Amino acid sequence: MGMKMIVAVHVVAMAAAVCARDLNQTMAATAQGWRPRGRPLATALIVFGDSIVDPGNNNNLPVTRMKANHAPYGKDFAGHVATGRFSNALLPPDLIAQRLNLKQLLPPWLNVDHTPEDLLTGVSFASGATGFDPLTPQIVNVFTMDQELEFFDTYRQKLVGLVGEQETRRIIDGAFFFVCTATDDVANTYFMTPYRAFDYDIPAYVDLLLVGAEAFLRNTSARGAKKMGFTGMPPIGCVPSQRTIGGGVQRRCDARRNYAALMYNKALQELIGRLNADPGFHTHVVYFNIYDIIYELAVHGERWGFTEMTRGCCGSGLIEVTQLCNTQYMGVCDDVDKHVFFDSYHPTQRAYEIIVDHIFKYYVPLMHL
Ligand SMILES: *[C@@H]1O[C@H](CO)[C@@H](O)[C@H](O)[C@H]1NC(C)=O
Ligand SMILES: *[C@@H]1O[C@H](CO)[C@@H](O)[C@H](O)[C@H]1NC(C)=O
Repeated sequence: MGMKMIVAVHVVAMAAAVCARDLNQTMAATAQGWRPRGRPLATALIVFGDSIVDPGNNNNLPVTRMKANHAPYGKDFAGHVATGRFSNALLPPDLIAQRLNLKQLLPPWLNVDHTPEDLLTGVSFASGATGFDPLTPQIVNVFTMDQELEFFDTYRQKLVGLVGEQETRRIIDGAFFFVCTATDDVANTYFMTPYRAFDYDIPAYVDLLLVGAEAFLRNTSARGAKKMGFTGMPPIGCVPSQRTIGGGVQRRCDARRNYAALMYNKALQELIGRLNADPGFHTHVVYFNIYDIIYELAVHGERWGFTEMTRGCCGSGLIEVTQLCNTQYMGVCDDVDKHVFFDSYHPTQRAYEIIVDHIFKYYVPLMHL
């Protein structure tokens, strides 16, 4: 996902950027306490997408406001460092890297001095607030999905420099590719700006997104990806900010946003089925349904021990995200584990743990790692 406040109040960004040295040290210190529980299930974890999976690549972008490198982000991270992760602590790529017995934290591609070992076991190229609609990253000045692929090309060259072509091929062949994006297309570009909704109804917009998804999948496949998990959209209408904007006085889940997500998910599954059956397409792609588990948490979170499902932990919890969520101007809840959402758009680490458990239980087995 990404975020948005085109509704926005302008708040001066006081956020002190984390310097590469601090980040490097924090990551090294954190990693010391972690041990794998068994043999690695993949050679590497390679991630593309948006803020759900961006551990800090956006920190390097001078213009965008789509950053999480200020408190309260990272409030429960080692040393309380706001690395750029859009949550109180870890993101799904970190939790997945741990489950694959690879490492504790998946670093961003930018902004960190990687050790050779860190490069060999994978990085995230994701950029918060990007999407498949070419307008989506353009509106908020973040990296496009094509730029993420170009980063991958540079990454691959670095691997070749480190270990040679043959070993690089072995690493890419054995890597777990994880892609999570498209939510910002619907939440931000379609519903919050006039650029698309005027010309496209929801089915036509879903078609546009699928064109981008297919190009991305074919491009990634051509780069040698063999095993890939590809997420659909969450129930966007049930995210706190979208309840505030689209859910009326009662702040119900907004039906139109959920309808768009479900329609995209159906079309995406058909696309994935078609590509997997195409003899010219060499990636085994598994659809990760995140809609149902996030709907369950956002609507029936009490079954999972949550007490607050409709407001984020940051400020009022109704609208604050990225630069509007800042401890300089507002408080933060002290019972973050009782909240499904950390800001008005992004889940807490505890919610992410449940989502990643669900993915490992139902979908990762289909990847034949
Ligand atoms: C980052 O860490 C690596 C090894 O852990 C070290 O070689 C490098 O000098 C560090 N870079 C900075 C900027 O501290
Ligand atoms: C991805 O595919 C599209 C359509 O085939 C192409 O126009 C684009 O240049 C490709 N991008 C990259 C980074 O390979």
